[in-house]
Amino acid sequence: MMDVGLESLSFYTPHYYFDLKELAKHRGVDKDKYYRGIGQEKMGMTPPDEDVVTMAANAAHHALERVDKSKIDTVIFGTETGIDQSKSAAIYVHSLVGLPSHCRSFEIKQACSGATAGLQLAQAYVAMNPDRKVLVLAADVARYDLESPGEATQGAGAVAMVVSAEPRILKLHPESGAYTEDVMDFWRPNYRDEAVVDGKYSIKVYLNALAESWKQYSAQTGRRFRDFERFVYHLPFTRMAEKAHLHLAKLADSTLSVEELKHQLQDTLYYSRITGNAYTASMYVGLAGLLDLCRDDLSGREIGLFSYGSGCMGTFFSGQVCAGYRSHLDTARHERMIKNRTALDYESYLDFFNFQLPRDGSALETAHHKTGLYRLSGIDGHKRLYEKVESLVEAETPAAAQASA
Ligand code: HMG
Repeated sequence: MMDVGLESLSFYTPHYYFDLKELAKHRGVDKDKYYRGIGQEKMGMTPPDEDVVTMAANAAHHALERVDKSKIDTVIFGTETGIDQSKSAAIYVHSLVGLPSHCRSFEIKQACSGATAGLQLAQAYVAMNPDRKVLVLAADVARYDLESPGEATQGAGAVAMVVSAEPRILKLHPESGAYTEDVMDFWRPNYRDEAVVDGKYSIKVYLNALAESWKQYSAQTGRRFRDFERFVYHLPFTRMAEKAHLHLAKLADSTLSVEELKHQLQDTLYYSRITGNAYTASMYVGLAGLLDLCRDDLSGREIGLFSYGSGCMGTFFSGQVCAGYRSHLDTARHERMIKNRTALDYESYLDFFNFQLPRDGSALETAHHKTGLYRLSGIDGHKRLYEKVESLVEAETPAAAQASA
């Protein structure tokens, strides 16, 4: 059977972050509740001139650098924080990164699992049309009410993946186990900017969806827990992956030592711990972390992936790491991006959080912040306006740690 999988994989997280040590001070809780209890240290925060479109365009720009763009004929954008009820965010990115017009471009939604649905559609499409390539995007801004238990699990980020019949990073296996159940663990009505969540219940539902998806997957494939070198989970917060992995091991009748747990998960958690939940993108940020940071050569190794979207849908699927994958990764840029970030103080965090574009059709030019190669320059007549930043140096000049609404 022909190989289909990831030819490239890049992620983007905002330049600004808020440290949970600071949040802990202002919420009167022990910082270890966040650092250890939920396993999060920092959350990525979007400035006023950044949204899911600009974040995804930034990731896509880099994912496309070594790919023949003329072969891309489909752009699929998974998000649950889209910017329009009608026009898909995929069309804006298609235009910003200069893709050919002979493309279909659309958005897909099922909470955090939208991008996985997109990836699986892309995989099937490429299997039928091996000369085509698909750009799969995932981008989200995770927002919860201030002073709610979910506040510490906010974050933002985007991932771009090119799926093709020339995988250089991960070959995707065709089988997957899926599970759907109608539950209210986390949702966001159209009239709200922040999610509504039943936090403790959402953890139970996540674990149940994992168990059910795994049962489907292992019955179909005959693969066992011990067949996988590493596991990548959807990462609403990193302790969730530890809970999930122990749950799966128990279900599969495997006992895990602390060292094994660490070995199988640790590298997948690093980026997420310091960027926060990025909903659709978060499991793929975990995958990027594994491939970027794992010291062992993973060529030929089997990776198990569990994608979860509240509401809910679970998918367990898997892939094999390609020989020579390291030379096709975006590791150095990811490292630079993380290293060069700017911490927000509490007031700036609130300013970023509370910023809203006008909703009455009036015009606003957004202040310049560091946004990578693309920015939301403003809004006018209900139309979001985007621009390519002329040079990164220029984009990085304004000392814009302060949000300006
Ligand atoms: P909470 O209820 O305030 O926290 O919020 P808690 O009291 O349960 O404490 C959390 C952990 O910290 C506990 O450990 C405490 O013992 C520990 P655990 O019992 O879990 O092992 N702890 C401490 N540890 C060390 N030192 C201390 C300390 N104090 C306490 N001093 C909750 C936690 C996750 C519920 C909240 O953050 C929340 O509601 N988050 C949002 C919902 C969420 O992320 N759910 C995850 C599953 S659903 C999902 O993944 C989908 C999602 O991504 C959305 C989508 O699909 O679109 C969210």
